[in-house]
Amino acid sequence: MTPEDLKSLIRTIPDFPKPGILFRDVTTLIGHGTGFASATAMLADHARKAGAQAIAGIEARGFIFGAAVAARLGLPFVPVRKPGKLPVPVLAMDYALEYGTDTLEVDPEAVVEGHIVVLIDDLIATGGTAHAAVKLLRRAGGVVNKGLFVIDLPDLGGADRLRGEDLSVEALME
Ligand code: PRP
Ligand code: ADE
Repeated sequence: MTPEDLKSLIRTIPDFPKPGILFRDVTTLIGHGTGFASATAMLADHARKAGAQAIAGIEARGFIFGAAVAARLGLPFVPVRKPGKLPVPVLAMDYALEYGTDTLEVDPEAVVEGHIVVLIDDLIATGGTAHAAVKLLRRAGGVVNKGLFVIDLPDLGGADRLRGEDLSVEALME
């Protein structure tokens, strides 16, 4: 599948979850067996080239792609969770979203000190979510050198913001 084929599998819903937001929905991509396999293979290729020793994914949509990539590469998966879900003392960080605010949490024991951790999410918009995840994974001891996304919304500037945090950013489509 070409990146254009993958793009045609994304569904766009206007005014969700708030008026004025064009919601880019990956449900239709993951609901297409070949499309999902192809997106996962492309992300895995980028992660392998970055020397990944672990894959981190952001709850919830980042778990779908991140876990698939980790399993494909035989690497550990580090869940970056929404608040109150982990049963151990956590590292936590609040962040702003295109449509609200939220908190992310990481189990510091899920990251091996000095290991290269590649971060995966379905989409980068303002970059607030990914930025918080990178900070937490680095605080936990990970060397986060790459952020991988299925979709980049370049007008919102998130990918450039992340590049300013000393990591490279790739997306399968804009
Ligand atoms: C979405 C998306 C990214 C984030 C991107 O997650 O999956 O994680 O927003 O936005 P940003 O770049 O402006 O921070 P959401 O918080 O909607 O959660 P979900 O995965 O549970 O649907
Ligand atoms: N997360 C933040 N902005 C989004 C958008 N426009 N579509 C889907 N997920 C998002």
